[in-house]
Amino acid sequence: MNERLNLQHAVIRYGDNIVINDVSLKVLAGEMIFITGVNGSGKSTLTRGIAGLLPLSSGTLTRSERMSYVPQVEEADRDFPACVREIVMTGTQRRKKLFYSRRDRLNADNAMRELKIENLSDREIKTLSGGQLRRVFLARALCGEPELLLLDEPCAGLDIESHRILFGVLEKLLANGCAILMVTHADSDLDGVKNSRVITISGGKIHE
Ligand SMILES: Nc1ncnc2c1ncn2[C@@H]1O[C@H](COP(=O)(O)OP(=O)(O)OP(=O)(O)O)[C@@H](O)[C@H]1O
Ligand SMILES: [Mg+2]
Repeated sequence: MNERLNLQHAVIRYGDNIVINDVSLKVLAGEMIFITGVNGSGKSTLTRGIAGLLPLSSGTLTRSERMSYVPQVEEADRDFPACVREIVMTGTQRRKKLFYSRRDRLNADNAMRELKIENLSDREIKTLSGGQLRRVFLARALCGEPELLLLDEPCAGLDIESHRILFGVLEKLLANGCAILMVTHADSDLDGVKNSRVITISGGKIHE
C-alpha cells in the first residue's frame, strides 16, 4: 500500500469553533508535505486530528498504523525522573509486549546516533537544554520506525547544525518510503526537499 494518509472531508472543532472545515488530503509513501499558515490557522489542530488525538466531527481518516507524532510544545514534565535513553525507548512500537526487544534497543541506539545525542544517553532529561530535548523527542519518534511522521514545528529552537542533522535524517526516511508532514513557519525549510508539497491553511481550508 503506497498511501500513508487519506483524509476525506475532515471537520475538526472545539465546541462551536470549527477550525478545520471539510479538508481532504492524500499523502503517498516518500512524500513530504509542509504545512504553513498564520498563527491560529489550525496547523496543530490538523496534525493532532491526523495523529488521532482529536476526534473528527465528520469525515474519514485512514492512515498507516506505524505513525509517530512530535507535538509543537513538549508538555513533558521536566522533573520526570528519566534519562534520555529511557525516553527514546518509549517511542518503540511495543504494542502489547511487556519488554523491549533487541530490535527496540537497536532502534533506540540508531535514532540517538542519527540525531547525535548518543553522548547524552544517560543524562537525566531535566538537565538538558531546550534544543537537546527537542532532539530527544525526535529520536523517540524515529525509534518507532514510522511510515508516517507528523512534526509540529520541529525546527523551533534548533541551531543551524541541529537543523542540518534533522533534514539529513528526514531525507533518509523519505528515501525509505516514510511520508512526512511538517508544520513550519520558515520559508527556508521549504526549499531543497525532493518530492515535497506546500499546503497553507486559512479559513479552515487547505490551499496547495
Ligand atoms: N484546546 C483548545 N481548545 C479550544 N480552542 C483551541 C484549542 N486549541 C486550539 N484552539 C483554537 O483553534 C484555532 C487553531 O489553533 P492551532 O493551535 O491549531 O493553530 P496553529 O496554526 O497551530 O497556530 P500556531 O502557529 O500558533 O501554532 C485557534 O483559534 C485556537 O485558539
Ligand atoms: Mg501550532
